Amino acid sequence: MVVKQGSIVLSFLIFYGVTANRQVSHQDNLVAVTATVGAPWPMPQKYSTTNDVFSLDAAKFQFIATGKSCDILYAAFDRYNSLTFGRQKNTLKFFPKIKRVQVPLQGINVNVQSDCDKYPSLESDESYQLSVSGTGISLTANQIWGALRGLDTFSQIVYRNNDGQFMVNGTTISDSPRFKHRGILLDTSRHYLSEAVIKKNLDAMEQNKFNVFHWHITDDQSFPYQSSAFPDMSRLGAYDPETHIYTQSDIRELIEYARLRGIRVVPEFDTPGHSQSWGKAIKDLLTKCYTGEKFNGNFGPIDPTINSTYKFLTSFFEEIAAVFPDHYVHLGGDEVSFNCWKSNPAVQEFMKAKGWTSYAKLEEYYMQNLLNIVGNLDKGYQIWQEVIDNGAKGQMLQKKLVVGGEACIWGEFVDNTNLLSRLWPRAAAVGERLWSPMSVSSPSAAASRLEEHRCRMVR
Ligand SMILES: *[C@@H]1O[C@H](CO)[C@@H](O)[C@H](O)[C@H]1NC(C)=O
Ligand SMILES: *[C@@H]1O[C@H](CO)[C@@H](O)[C@H](O)[C@H]1NC(C)=O
Repeated sequence: MVVKQGSIVLSFLIFYGVTANRQVSHQDNLVAVTATVGAPWPMPQKYSTTNDVFSLDAAKFQFIATGKSCDILYAAFDRYNSLTFGRQKNTLKFFPKIKRVQVPLQGINVNVQSDCDKYPSLESDESYQLSVSGTGISLTANQIWGALRGLDTFSQIVYRNNDGQFMVNGTTISDSPRFKHRGILLDTSRHYLSEAVIKKNLDAMEQNKFNVFHWHITDDQSFPYQSSAFPDMSRLGAYDPETHIYTQSDIRELIEYARLRGIRVVPEFDTPGHSQSWGKAIKDLLTKCYTGEKFNGNFGPIDPTINSTYKFLTSFFEEIAAVFPDHYVHLGGDEVSFNCWKSNPAVQEFMKAKGWTSYAKLEEYYMQNLLNIVGNLDKGYQIWQEVIDNGAKGQMLQKKLVVGGEACIWGEFVDNTNLLSRLWPRAAAVGERLWSPMSVSSPSAAASRLEEHRCRMVR
């Protein structure tokens, strides 16, 4: 769950217990779920169809901008032309005996009412209206972001009949998301993920109306982010300093790919724990752990007691603020072990000087300094909930503060070979709970639609 309070966005790890109730199993009598035909996923807020069926002339079909337009819209027209009609478009000529139900519809009018923003944000308006009738197909949206969501729905309600003809029923849809923040977390530190796989995942996110790529880019295991100011961090901290890194140009390309799909890229640079890989290049950043009076060769979380730490963090996050255009940076803050801090004589001295006995105070001191650094860069920040719990700032979980949620796939057991098949179509269930009305919650009603949606995603 993701909660916004003031300028802070908090991430909670909650595991959704949603399973698509596919009834095919070894025990059952193989009662297969029948896939729906032309049903959308996620379910729109308001959705009604008629029994009027219209054919679409795939060869001549046009996407027409009747309001504001921009590069994002034109790129979407290209993409949705093939998502709607696919390469099957050309095979149409092999179906000579098409029984036309009506004069075929030859286009969709897309009316975006305000000038395009460059980037999506937490405040983006993703609402849209879509209608299909004998007089034509029209899509209206206040902002470009709603037009993207509506084009996706349009591509889903088009289906092929037994003659191979593209069809669509009379339809009226009025749609907007239940939550503004609908994220997928990928972890590129435990295993490196290639740009190709990240792009495919962004495609899948678009097909499920997710709008935040929460990029848990670094962790203890590796540091694949190639910093301009601190190039040694990936040189020494990545699994491979040439093949297992994200260069500045790779990152620009992924942010652009996501932008065209209405997806925000929120990078997470998790500290003060989960930062072993940072210490390879940045001398004295991590706390030295002691056994008795002696440094035992191990390192703990970032050392919050020395000034050089904050000098480094200021330069590092200055770069991050410039590289990632989203307003938010995720600063992690989870699972900080106090053992190493407790063992270190200089840290003990620092605690004594401050008059602190609780190491949670020291964690709070670190996080507050970091939040000040990032706040001064005019960025908002997200942190994991336990930072607030440890800081004893009190309980807060009022439902009205919830801005969304995320499906988080941690990387210990996933890499390029299994990420997509493990995450999808499971994450589609999370996507629907975050987009659709609260009342859309029945697994058995969802099963038939998910069956169709899975085929659509495979295609
Ligand atoms: C489309 O119309 C046909 C009848 O013409 C009907 O059988 C079918 O259920 C309709 N589909 C939807 C999604 O309304
Ligand atoms: C560290 O910074 C604090 C606050 O700016 C300052 O008072 C202190 O003298 C500095 N310590 C060192 C060793 O530079």
